[in-house]
Amino acid sequence: MRIQLLSDLHLETENFAPQVAEDADLLVLAGDIDANHHQIDLFKNWPVPVIYVAGNHEHDHKDFDQTLDALRERCDRLGFTMLECEQTRITHRGRTIRVLGTTLWNDFELFGPEGIERSMRAARYFAEQVQCATRHGKPMGVAELRDEGQHCRDWLREQLTNPAHRAPQDDATLVITHFAPSLRSNDPRYPLNASTASFCNAYDDMIAHSTLWLHGHLHCRHDYRVGAARVVCNARGLASKGEDSDFQPQGVWEI
Ligand SMILES: [Fe+2]
Ligand SMILES: [Fe+2]
Repeated sequence: MRIQLLSDLHLETENFAPQVAEDADLLVLAGDIDANHHQIDLFKNWPVPVIYVAGNHEHDHKDFDQTLDALRERCDRLGFTMLECEQTRITHRGRTIRVLGTTLWNDFELFGPEGIERSMRAARYFAEQVQCATRHGKPMGVAELRDEGQHCRDWLREQLTNPAHRAPQDDATLVITHFAPSLRSNDPRYPLNASTASFCNAYDDMIAHSTLWLHGHLHCRHDYRVGAARVVCNARGLASKGEDSDFQPQGVWEI
């Protein structure tokens, strides 16, 4: 099955007209498509099935849970499959692909237990000054985002590592997240420091349980292997800042 992958289009500020990759069987939207949500409608009537996983920016200045409800409503209306700690199965040419999707917010454990506090401190500006999301009427700070990250992580780890969740007919496992599962996905433009834990998680052990892991969030491109598993990021980022140099708008990746 061939997958077209788009993420980090940032249509709240960027101009981008998506085009169908002619040989794709599925379109994956891996988050940060439009902080205002409206332009997710650009993919209406897409000729192949669309799977959508929310990014962080879809939550900017909004109630966290209401945002997930609104995105799900929009996806339902458009006929897309939205995945947030959920799985679906796709059958293509006699093969069954299990698909696991979650935003996978950061748990800030990238540098081990001793790095948690420093990593959370480095994320405060983003959470409190940029994202400004709320939950149950209260500001959603770094601690609340970490709770969400741990929830995503625990769900995904259980799905990937407990054989009880695998069906006998599953031929491959596709994972879709917004945040990255490995430090190997770090953006080479930036130095490694406490802020890196706001982009990458240290889930390399989980990657090996997947066949293909697609993510976004880092505004750069990646394609690497962990054992037999492949990790791909095809984030567009901000063309206005020259971040889209090797972005493949009609690229397809096979599973
Ligand atoms: Fe982004
Ligand atoms: Fe992001």
